[in-house]
Amino acid sequence: MRAWILSIAGFALFVQSLPGAEDGPRRGKPEQVRALAKRLLVAALSGDKKPTSAVKQPAHPLDPLSATEMATAVDMLRRDRKLAQSFRFVSCTLDEPDKALVLAHRPGQEVPRRAFLVLLDNATGIGHEAIVDLAKRAVVRFAALPKGIQPAIMLDEFGECEEAVKKSPEFLAALKKRGVADASLVMVEPWSAGNYGTEPAADKGRRLMRALCFVRSEPRDNGFARPLDGVVVIVDLNTMKVIRIEDYGVTPLPPEAGNWARDYIPKMRGGLKPIDIVQPDGPSFTVTGNEVRWQNWRFRLGFTPREGLVLHTVGYNDAGTFRSILYRGSITEMVVPYGDPGEQYYRKNAFDIGEYGIGTLVNSLQLGCDCLGSIRYFDANYLDSRGKVITLKNAICLHEEDAGILWKHTDWRTNQTEVRRSRRLSASFIATVGNYDYGFYWHFYQDGSLQCEVKLTGIMNTTALKPKEKSAYGIEVAPQLNATFHQHIFAARLDMAVDGLKNSVQELNTARVPRGPDNPHGNAFRASATLLANEKQAMRATRSDTARFWRIINPHSKNRLGTPVGYRLVPGENSPTFVQPDAAVMRRAGFAAQRLWVTPFQRDEKYPAGDYPNQHPGGDGLPRWTAANRKVADTDVVAWYVFAHMHVPRPEDWPVMPVASIGFALRPDGFFARNPALDVPPVK
Ligand code: NI
Repeated sequence: MRAWILSIAGFALFVQSLPGAEDGPRRGKPEQVRALAKRLLVAALSGDKKPTSAVKQPAHPLDPLSATEMATAVDMLRRDRKLAQSFRFVSCTLDEPDKALVLAHRPGQEVPRRAFLVLLDNATGIGHEAIVDLAKRAVVRFAALPKGIQPAIMLDEFGECEEAVKKSPEFLAALKKRGVADASLVMVEPWSAGNYGTEPAADKGRRLMRALCFVRSEPRDNGFARPLDGVVVIVDLNTMKVIRIEDYGVTPLPPEAGNWARDYIPKMRGGLKPIDIVQPDGPSFTVTGNEVRWQNWRFRLGFTPREGLVLHTVGYNDAGTFRSILYRGSITEMVVPYGDPGEQYYRKNAFDIGEYGIGTLVNSLQLGCDCLGSIRYFDANYLDSRGKVITLKNAICLHEEDAGILWKHTDWRTNQTEVRRSRRLSASFIATVGNYDYGFYWHFYQDGSLQCEVKLTGIMNTTALKPKEKSAYGIEVAPQLNATFHQHIFAARLDMAVDGLKNSVQELNTARVPRGPDNPHGNAFRASATLLANEKQAMRATRSDTARFWRIINPHSKNRLGTPVGYRLVPGENSPTFVQPDAAVMRRAGFAAQRLWVTPFQRDEKYPAGDYPNQHPGGDGLPRWTAANRKVADTDVVAWYVFAHMHVPRPEDWPVMPVASIGFALRPDGFFARNPALDVPPVK
């Protein structure tokens, strides 16, 4: 034992000498090293022979779990609960500490580290939640979820499901009926089964996928060009067996291929001369651990397997004073309803975040990045379903871009011109969800604006048409190939902190003033602000005919003009949700009934369709929480902005869709005394 303790002390000194150990706030902190040595000592004395240097003290309470922390959590849970092989790991995330603790944290202080895990026991079909305290090395919670609650679909299940389908004799018979000889060319697209109330009784309580199929003409072909219409394969994911094939009749495969890769393009266009983005002195941002500083902005980057990139503690250095704006921001749910009522199609509704975990579908930008210039990448960790840590290299991209003009004026009398170029800092990731690719970008600007942009690209989900058939619910994008009308509905969770936690939300509408003594010439119009005082009042739609936007203010912090400081929530492109309000999908996607919701902050209210939307009967999330109609004025508020891209497909969206872009912005509104970007220097 003594030798072991001595080696621990030696190891602690070694850790101190590591280059990485000198990063950021750990620099020159002997108490940190002592704390580490103490923990190692406790571990050794408790009979734990594994060197647990593993649980290295991170720099900040919001740092995402390291690979070692995740592995430790899995290991502890397995040993403590003697988990059978039938347990699969759905997710492992930092259990974010309370706000008060985070805000009081100072560099060098020890921080609580707790891992939140979701598991599924394939043997019983029961989901579980667990919390592992990594510092105390204890499983502090392990609880079964109610029967019927299905954790999110795991990435591994996709591959296993495809394999199970291709082995099924009933499926091979359905292929034969359609003249498809080679099952290896079949592409199986597992879709979440949802919950529509129309399922056969035998489906109840089962963990299911509905697989749609496509047939490639050769192994590298774009499968979506040739949907195998009429066949839906229902797979039980716990037993990984096909339980049923739904056959809606034979439709021939569309005749054309739809390939986009470079080797399929016979001749590339010419005439392009190089544009080089060169940053000879490097980028203008600095990164310490997960903290980013750039042009008065300061924030932290986080990552979860469910949401992907998360922004934490975003604020702006205003003449030497750090002022908070946003405590936490992420795109926290999305749903893609398809509009075709056909028996085969009405269940096509994907919750790409809540059902699939978009963070596990993130592209490694080692394979290719759309950005130019000096780029800083961040890796991301998540678990595969067997509890192995996957480290995705280059998951998040951070870089600067020229963003056109920032401001300009020409005084023709004095012949004086001042112009400034705008630059923005973008933090982004790209996720591929089956056929579709989504780029999520948070752009920071020098004038204090923060913009969220989602770029939609990839391949549309398609169905086959019989010769001369037209669909009333889609557009023919290639011969006999239909792309269904659909929407991509995103929900941003914006835990606002404008100059502190106590905020209120106002709605601004502009209206004509009625003709009368106050408006004799008919020219009068004005904008007026209305306080959204409770949750019911704060369920709002967007309106272009009143130029509607919202403003998050701090009633206790006034600017020099005596008005409360604020940030404006500026909607971008949006559309209402077009499915009927009582359609089955809306029971789960109730958040999509509004475009703005405001709730008082509650630690557990994170996901607008609830924690477990997969096959959920519905009613959870924002509709449930807001039924209490809580007060949302002058309190710690969360604004939920819902934005929908209505996709009316075009032939030009085939075979791969040029980027469509949607989003919103947060812009200072009385937050600063004047244009905060006057001090941006001219280029020359
Ligand atoms: Ni689309």
